Amino acid sequence: MKSLPFYFIIVAVIFALIGMFYGMYMAGSGDHLLGGAHAHNNLLGFVTMALYGFYYRAVPSAISGLATIHFWVALVANIVFPLGIAMAILGQTPLFAAVGGGLEIVAMLIFGWTVYRNRAALTV
Ligand code: HEM
Repeated sequence: MKSLPFYFIIVAVIFALIGMFYGMYMAGSGDHLLGGAHAHNNLLGFVTMALYGFYYRAVPSAISGLATIHFWVALVANIVFPLGIAMAILGQTPLFAAVGGGLEIVAMLIFGWTVYRNRAALTV
């Protein structure tokens, strides 16, 4: 899937905008209760998705079926994890935070394996 870097980066921008609007709400209202969800949405949703996208653009040979699985696992993780953190902070179930966090780890493991398998492309 040649446009995989684009998909990673456009989704990163969407996560950033959601996080920034929520940050504006927190700043304006003084209600910082869900700051942890904001932080994880921005740092995982925006930063890791963007980094994954730039990596696949820099190393196109790493784009494969596994990379597509990587995209979907990371996307679902970055939706479930911040919402799960918010639910946990609000005293509801911690289940979604746990599932989302687990998926974040799976996404990073896939990335680590991909970087390792394609290490020749990053060797100068
Ligand atoms: C329009 C942009 C943004 C606004 C208005 C905003 C606003 C805020 C506010 C009001 C807080 C709570 C501070 C506190 O409780 O002391 C916060 C926390 C935080 N923000 Fe943002 N933010 C923005 C963008 C970002 C971005 C782009 C990132 C990371 C890439 C980020 C990461 C964090 C982190 C790590 C925290 C700490 C959360 C915690 O201590 O629980 N923010 N932000």
